[in-house]
Amino acid sequence: MAVTILAIESSCDDTSAAVVRDGYILSNLIAGQDVHRSYGGVVPELASRAHQANIVPVADQALRRAGVRVEEISAVAFTRGPGLLGSLLVGTSFAKGFALAREIPLIEVNHLHAHVLVHFILQKGREERVPQFPFLCLLVSGGHTQIILLTNQLEMKILGNTIDDAAGEAFDKCGKVMGFPYPAGPGIDKLASEGNKKAFTFAKPSVPGLDFSFSGLKTNFLYFLRDRLKEDPDFIVKNKTDLCASLQHTIVTILVSKLVRAVAETGIREIGIAGGVSANSGLREAMVVEAKKKQWNLYLPELGYTTDNAAMIGITGYYKYLRKEFTDQDVAPLARI
Ligand code: KG4
Ligand code: ZN
Repeated sequence: MAVTILAIESSCDDTSAAVVRDGYILSNLIAGQDVHRSYGGVVPELASRAHQANIVPVADQALRRAGVRVEEISAVAFTRGPGLLGSLLVGTSFAKGFALAREIPLIEVNHLHAHVLVHFILQKGREERVPQFPFLCLLVSGGHTQIILLTNQLEMKILGNTIDDAAGEAFDKCGKVMGFPYPAGPGIDKLASEGNKKAFTFAKPSVPGLDFSFSGLKTNFLYFLRDRLKEDPDFIVKNKTDLCASLQHTIVTILVSKLVRAVAETGIREIGIAGGVSANSGLREAMVVEAKKKQWNLYLPELGYTTDNAAMIGITGYYKYLRKEFTDQDVAPLARI
């Protein structure tokens, strides 16, 4: 019998629902939240309220688009964490209620695990190219920067982690100083393509092993702009494309050089990237270049699966369903895992 998962993601500021059947995506809906734009970051209380307003219509639409009736759902998968507690509570409560009413299993999913498993989402009519194991994945999002080793879809080990800020935070915080709305990553990416990546040089950290650090770069970028603005108040406006290109180049270089090191240490050649920052065109280009040079089998996620989405929760839920890894109704969301 077909395994059909209804998946819910509500960890931050996107309310998303998806339907996954036997590993194939049938629908994936995302309702974003513009209410945060003018605040320069996500306001947790506003995010939680918007999730409450969006969750039922988004889940309803996901089922309609998939052409699936509620009776056909085998289990409900939801993001347990990490994320904003108030946001997670909305998705968790919805999933629990749905599973209880339908008397079907409930499956908790770790948001970071799910970002990595986007590489296993199948789509009808598309090439079925999925990573072989062991698989090495660079997870780069607004809250995390990790190098993860997977031995199968459900077993993973974190080989490297950021000791301070995440790569997405570096984009967002530096972008904020340049006047970009939140999140700044996509805007920086766009302008970077018109700038000179060698125009300015910013600090690259020296962190041992496979760990990352981005707080030094952020401080360096801030002080650099403060000093230049003293000389010329229009410095940012005049140099915005070069600033974006140079900042992006620095972040990409930090990320790729650690991944190259991880490959050298593990000997693994099945390599992927995931998370919001994996949409970055500079990072994607650098990965393609490196993969060609070092003969990696490279997996770049589709752009729609880079930022938060429920399809990734659905595919993770599907693999957990096959192993009967179900969750009790007394489960509570976790802001940190
Ligand atoms: O994975 P995600 O949607 O949410 C978290 O789980 O954090 O990632 C959001 C992050 C933000 O920091 C955003 O600026 C960044 O991903 N981002 C990008 C791009 N698109 C999204 N950063 C650089 N270039 C992009 N094209
Ligand atoms: Zn995420």
